[in-house]
Amino acid sequence: MNRLAALTPGDGCAWVTGASSGIGRAVALALAQQGWRVAVSARGAAELGTLVAEAVGLAGSIHSYPLDVTDPERAAQVCEAIWGDLGPIALSIFNAGVYLPVELTGGAFDRQPFATSMQINYLGVVNCLAPVASRQMARGSGHLVIVSSVTGYGGLPRAAAYGPTKAALINLAECLKFDLDKAGVRISIVCPGFVDTPATAGNPFPMPFLMPAGLAAQRILAGIHRQDFEITFPRRFTFMLKFLNLLPYALYFPLVKRITGWR
Ligand SMILES: NC(=O)c1ccc[n+]([C@@H]2O[C@H](COP(=O)([O-])OP(=O)(O)OC[C@H]3O[C@@H](n4cnc5c(N)ncnc54)[C@H](OP(=O)(O)O)[C@@H]3O)[C@@H](O)[C@H]2O)c1
Repeated sequence: MNRLAALTPGDGCAWVTGASSGIGRAVALALAQQGWRVAVSARGAAELGTLVAEAVGLAGSIHSYPLDVTDPERAAQVCEAIWGDLGPIALSIFNAGVYLPVELTGGAFDRQPFATSMQINYLGVVNCLAPVASRQMARGSGHLVIVSSVTGYGGLPRAAAYGPTKAALINLAECLKFDLDKAGVRISIVCPGFVDTPATAGNPFPMPFLMPAGLAAQRILAGIHRQDFEITFPRRFTFMLKFLNLLPYALYFPLVKRITGWR
């Protein structure tokens, strides 16, 4: 049982990375609706500006801090700037990520999507998490939320570059939890199924239980409020994937091929 109280906007501000579109944008708006002062980051400064304007009149507010998460020095500077401008970062949602599908055809194997995915999805999270976690541990409070994916549970078709980055994030959160518990800092891992965003718009297959980004944001905030370690949705889909990953590989691969229509 977690004996810490859920964080409120009175505890400090929130920082959301990857907030220029999709899930991050919806989470930032939902937090501002709940009264949070929200710092938002992404590379797209113009999109962040639109988001700031959209939040005017809400109970809270949104503030733009453009950032490429692959730059660790800039990530530390942005963390420091937010802390100075808006107060302590009580809640941080490390959501920036890219999905680069890989399908090996004709023997071609390009290493670039693998390197890019790891730089953004995994090291990008570490770059932003490090300065926030140091400060939160010194303060003895805070909540770090990492956005992974159900793809991190086990291998899926076309996810050879993406899946390992999300599996690494799940493992990262599990490992860090031991140290953070001692320091009074919470950590959560978010594993969504399919969410309707620009990242999934190009998927050339039917996406089961596809969810709007606004609903995904509500699920994430509810899980944060409950202080769950793992926040995963939609439950029917993600539990099915978890079950598949408990099976022996002799069953796992044929079932995944059948479910995804892989030939
Ligand atoms: N949609 C899904 O079905 C789904 C399912 C499971 C997990 N997820 C995860 O959810 C997160 C959000 O994805 P989404 O679906 O909302 O996709 P999205 O709409 O494409 O949003 C991705 C966000 O990440 C930002 N980003 C990408 N590279 C960046 C970089 N180098 N530095 C800073 N920001 C960067 C993008 O902004 P800029 O391009 O402006 O930098 C954008 O704001 C990702 O981590 C994704 O893996 C999504």
